Amino acid sequence: MGWYNMDVMLKQDKGLKFRRNRVFAVILLVVIIFGVGFLFWSWQGQKERLDVAQEEGIEEEDFGNTADLPDVRETEELEQECYFIGRNLERYLAYMKNNPELSMSEVVRNVNSNLDRTRYVDVKDADLSYGVLAMVNKFNYLGGYEPDDLVRLGEGYSNSTAPMLRREVAEAFVKMADAARSEGLVLMNISGYRSYSLQEWLYNNYAAQDGYELADTYSSRPGYSEHQAGLATDINSVEVSFANTAEFRWLQAHAAEYGFILRYPDGLEYITGFSYEPWH
Ligand code: DAL
Ligand code: ZN
Repeated sequence: MGWYNMDVMLKQDKGLKFRRNRVFAVILLVVIIFGVGFLFWSWQGQKERLDVAQEEGIEEEDFGNTADLPDVRETEELEQECYFIGRNLERYLAYMKNNPELSMSEVVRNVNSNLDRTRYVDVKDADLSYGVLAMVNKFNYLGGYEPDDLVRLGEGYSNSTAPMLRREVAEAFVKMADAARSEGLVLMNISGYRSYSLQEWLYNNYAAQDGYELADTYSSRPGYSEHQAGLATDINSVEVSFANTAEFRWLQAHAAEYGFILRYPDGLEYITGFSYEPWH
C-alpha cells in the first residue's frame, strides 16, 4: 500500500510541475511577442519623424532631442491645408505652440502672412520675377525700383497727377472701366504709379501730421508701396464712404474678372497691416 501511494504522489507531482512550466512558457512567449511589437512600433514612429524632417529639409541636428522633432500627426494635418507651404513647416509648428487656441487653417494663413515676423524688420527684396503677381508689402521691399513699361491712362480714365500704370495693368483698367461705363458707372484712377521719392514725400508729410505710428496704418513707407510697383490704382475717392457707392459694389462683383483685387479689406487690418481702403 505504501509503494502504491508513493507512486501515485510522484506522478501527481510530475504532472503539476509540467503544467506549471507550460503556463510559464506561454506567459514568457506573450511577453516576448508584445516586447518585440512595442520595439518595432516605437522604431517605426521615430523613423517616420525623421522621414518628415528630411522631406521638409529640417536637419536632425537642428533639434535638441528627438522629442523636439515635428509631431507627425500635426504635420500630417497641416499638410492637408490647401495653403500649406512645406518650407514654412517649422514656423507653423512654433506658431501653433505659441497660439494653441488657433485652428490649423488660421495657423497656416497667419504664418503665410508673416504674422510671426516683424513688419519693416524681417524684410527681403520683392521678387519681381512674378511680374504683375509680385508681392509688395511691409515684408517685400522694392528699393529704388522703377517699372520700365509704364503707360499713361487716357482722358476719361484718370484725373490724377499720378496717371501711370504698368502696361498690362493699364490695359486691364481700361477694359474694366469700359465695362462699368456700359452699365452707367464711372471708374477713375485717382492715383496710380508713384515713384520712391513721391511715396517718401507723402509718407513724411503724413508722419509729420499724424505721427509715424498712425501714418504706418494708412501709408506705405518709401520702397514698400504697391503704387511704386505700378500695379495698384486708387479708384474714385479715398473716403471710406466710397464703400457705399454703386461703383464699389460693381467692383466687388467684377474687379477680379479683370485681374484686380481689393488689397486692404475691412476687418483684415491685422493681416494686411493697413486700415480699410475700399478704393485701393
Ligand atoms: N495707401 C497705401 C497703403 C500706400 O501708401 O501704398
Ligand atoms: Zn492706394
